[in-house]
Amino acid sequence: MDRKNKGFIRAVSGNLVTAEFTKKVRQNEVGYILNSGERLKSEVIRIKGSMAELQVFEETRGLKVKDKVEFSGELLSVELGPGLLGQVYDGLQNPLQDMAEKYGFFIPRGVSLPAIHHFKAWDFEPQIEEGDIVSAGHFLGWVPEGIFRHQIMVPFDMMDHYRVISIVQKGSYKIQDTIAELEDRDGKRYKIGMTFNWPVRIPIKAYSERLMPIEPLITKIRIIDTLVPVAKGGSYCIPGPFGAGKTVLQQITARYAEVDIVIIAACGERAGEVVETLREFPKITDPRTGHSLQERTIIICNTSSMPVASRESSVYTAITIAEYYRQMGLNTLLLADSTSRWAQAMREISGRLEEIPGDEAYPAYLESRIANFYERAGLVRLYNGKIGSVTIGGTVSPAGGTFEEPVTQGTLKVVGAFHGLSRARANARRFPSIDPHESWSKYKGFIEPGQIETAHTILFKGKEIDQMMKVVGEEGISLEDYVDYLKAEFLDRVYLQQNAFDEVDGSTPKERQIYIFDFVVKIIRSKFVFDDKDHTLRYFQSLENAFINWNYKPWESEEFKEAEKDLRRTLDEAREHEESL
Ligand SMILES: Nc1ncnc2c1ncn2[C@@H]1O[C@H](COP(=O)(O)OP(=O)(O)OP(=O)(O)O)[C@@H](O)[C@H]1O
Ligand SMILES: [Mg+2]
Repeated sequence: MDRKNKGFIRAVSGNLVTAEFTKKVRQNEVGYILNSGERLKSEVIRIKGSMAELQVFEETRGLKVKDKVEFSGELLSVELGPGLLGQVYDGLQNPLQDMAEKYGFFIPRGVSLPAIHHFKAWDFEPQIEEGDIVSAGHFLGWVPEGIFRHQIMVPFDMMDHYRVISIVQKGSYKIQDTIAELEDRDGKRYKIGMTFNWPVRIPIKAYSERLMPIEPLITKIRIIDTLVPVAKGGSYCIPGPFGAGKTVLQQITARYAEVDIVIIAACGERAGEVVETLREFPKITDPRTGHSLQERTIIICNTSSMPVASRESSVYTAITIAEYYRQMGLNTLLLADSTSRWAQAMREISGRLEEIPGDEAYPAYLESRIANFYERAGLVRLYNGKIGSVTIGGTVSPAGGTFEEPVTQGTLKVVGAFHGLSRARANARRFPSIDPHESWSKYKGFIEPGQIETAHTILFKGKEIDQMMKVVGEEGISLEDYVDYLKAEFLDRVYLQQNAFDEVDGSTPKERQIYIFDFVVKIIRSKFVFDDKDHTLRYFQSLENAFINWNYKPWESEEFKEAEKDLRRTLDEAREHEESL
């Protein structure tokens, strides 16, 4: 007798398939649609009586009424274990490099490959002994993965306490070898290997407590760390109009942020852009290790040409992998680009489900989905006392570039920092194009609040004077206002703007930011004597040149000291008050 839980298609509408079933079917379980020898993966997203509605993660062309559907009984899951680092996956965790090797450029529909290589051997070192009592998330031992100790843990759904019956000795083992045997209170035994599955929609909670994210996550991007900081375990969003620099900003963050592991969810972007990421990434060296950055990065990608439902699975696959590495006591950073494409997928599927549409035809549950996603960011204390974190940064690409739209607004309600990109700044090539007036952060950075206040005050004044000048012209404003305007411009040019493509200027360590920002603030607070506006302009131009020259010198090098002397000499040419520097 065929024990498989089967159904058959009753209707197909784009990526949504309605199937009739006879045995029990669960919400969010995986179903495979069988069509001419192909097995198309899908997920049950609504059940109505004996009908299940499934979102299909592959092209649905050619599917017909009466095609068979096989229900797996399993929730949509990812495989977790050593070997994830450095991989490039699609939204269903198919390793794209392996897929390309096996199938070439055009990957057939319905094929899948194991997410991690099951035949690879790993050097395992046990950390527990027979007789120890362990539970979900407990470290049994570790294998080296890149520069990390990849902890082999008790699977997170083993919620009981277990006695260790056996643990293998130090040595080389494959992923599926049993490395430990555990026994529960009732004497039931469990064989533990190096990998297990976890359902992507369920947050991993094998920790003792959540902590307030208070420690800044250093991105080495000056405008972020100084004015709108991010915290380890916090969340932030980057809304920005088309071409304003969202993707480049995330790439720089991936490269320089002081975290252990970066997970990039490239969601629904143009294929060309994704290909570029894939081509560029292996070439980028990790400033910390000198190796390829890819060794501590995982990319989950699906392009705009892939079915929309896979955008949703990419986002959840990415966050689940980020939580998994957090469980090892590591700091992970998930960068999602762009969450708007994910929201569009929700809108499309909701439309096909004929749900009552909310604002701009997005489903009514858009906000709660967004909130649930960002709430998976966090700083946690594990059962063993170690601390791990997941930080989430998501870009939003609002249609028309206005932030008054449901995805941006829904995101702003839940994130801890807002890095709004400005079209005007991008057009003026003032990168990173984060708008210093509109952006905000609830997190505390490492710069003294009084100094930040000074920066905001002068930026605000500068903006006002700039607007005034647009009306009355430069002649129409006082010399005093002109000086303030140039001070604001100075702060922007030498500090807020940063050359992402320069080896030195591209990333500014914390100590250097503190040191040079102090300098900038003292200049803003200084009083100067100028003959006229021309003189003022010439003076600030040479000051800017000297400062930017300084920015390009390696931190604490001889050249750095020389450039600083130059800068001080230039500064003294018109400064009146000595005491403020
Ligand atoms: N930090 C930067 N330094 C220099 N140039 C930049 C920087 N950021 C963006 N640019 C320029 O702007 C262009 C667009 O940037 P990017 O692709 O990141 O925009 P985007 O907001 O992701 O666009 P889309 O909405 O199309 O996804 C880049 O190709 C680059 O020329
Ligand atoms: Mg982009």
